[in-house]
Amino acid sequence: MSSLPLEKRVAVVTGGSRGIGGAISRLLAEDGATVAVLGLPIDRERTETLRLHLNGSAPRLHFYEGDVGDFGECRRAVEGIVAEHGRIDYLVNNAGITRDHTVRKMTVDEWQAVLQVNLSGPFFMIKAVLDTMVAQQFGRIVNISSVVGQGGNFGQANYAAAKAGLIGLTKTVALEVAKNRITVNAVAPGFIDTEMTKAMPSEAIEMAISQTPKRRLGQPEEVAHLVRFLIDDNAGYITGAVYNVNGGWYM
Ligand SMILES: NC(=O)c1ccc[n+]([C@@H]2O[C@H](COP(=O)([O-])OP(=O)(O)OC[C@H]3O[C@@H](n4cnc5c(N)ncnc54)[C@H](O)[C@@H]3O)[C@@H](O)[C@H]2O)c1
Repeated sequence: MSSLPLEKRVAVVTGGSRGIGGAISRLLAEDGATVAVLGLPIDRERTETLRLHLNGSAPRLHFYEGDVGDFGECRRAVEGIVAEHGRIDYLVNNAGITRDHTVRKMTVDEWQAVLQVNLSGPFFMIKAVLDTMVAQQFGRIVNISSVVGQGGNFGQANYAAAKAGLIGLTKTVALEVAKNRITVNAVAPGFIDTEMTKAMPSEAIEMAISQTPKRRLGQPEEVAHLVRFLIDDNAGYITGAVYNVNGGWYM
């Protein structure tokens, strides 16, 4: 089955209740897709808040609780989504965390926590959805990497390693499932105006803006539109690619 209207498509967006994921969930729901937000308990209320902004498309937004760093929880959530909505067409691996310290000060726990959520999480989710996508002979997977995975960043060895690893995962899965009409791509945002960025010291934000040729932070909606492009039925020949959306910071 190739061309279906968006109204018949089902998307899973991890961490899709706020920030970049929230903008992706909102855009896909407004365009007509059914959207399953997979998130932590705290994301349930955030999804309700997002729903308040959706007006007519609010009934298409659903919340499923699950920690992407736990394979059992990923599998259970995916089973629930398939049972309720019948299929999964799009997986956006967006959930991510930071635990910043220089390598000398970074604890092993901080290293492992970030690798577990930002790299093992996408692997677990991909593993959980692939049988469904292969059976459908259709799927679009978009992994939210980062400019930090391409160029490194002071104090973010764990995050940079996870986001660089995600690019390797993207390319390998793309190779493995190309024959099943499933595409797998990565999006690498620069500094985007979200809660994650707001947690940074203001000097670090100023520094990031000064290093960005566009001289501003990106907006979550600007990342969402790129994801929307990549999940389109017409994007079937794009796979294993990494798309920058970084204001020219890293070229
Ligand atoms: N904001 C930026 O500047 C920027 C830049 C490049 C890449 N990114 C990446 O984009 C993605 C979204 O970032 P954001 O700025 O919107 O972050 P955010 O903190 O605003 O949102 C992240 C969401 O993921 C959820 N989440 C965290 N851990 C989870 C887990 N274990 N299981 C399920 N859900 C979990 C959070 O509860 C939250 O809803 C992340 O992967 C981040 O690394 C962000």
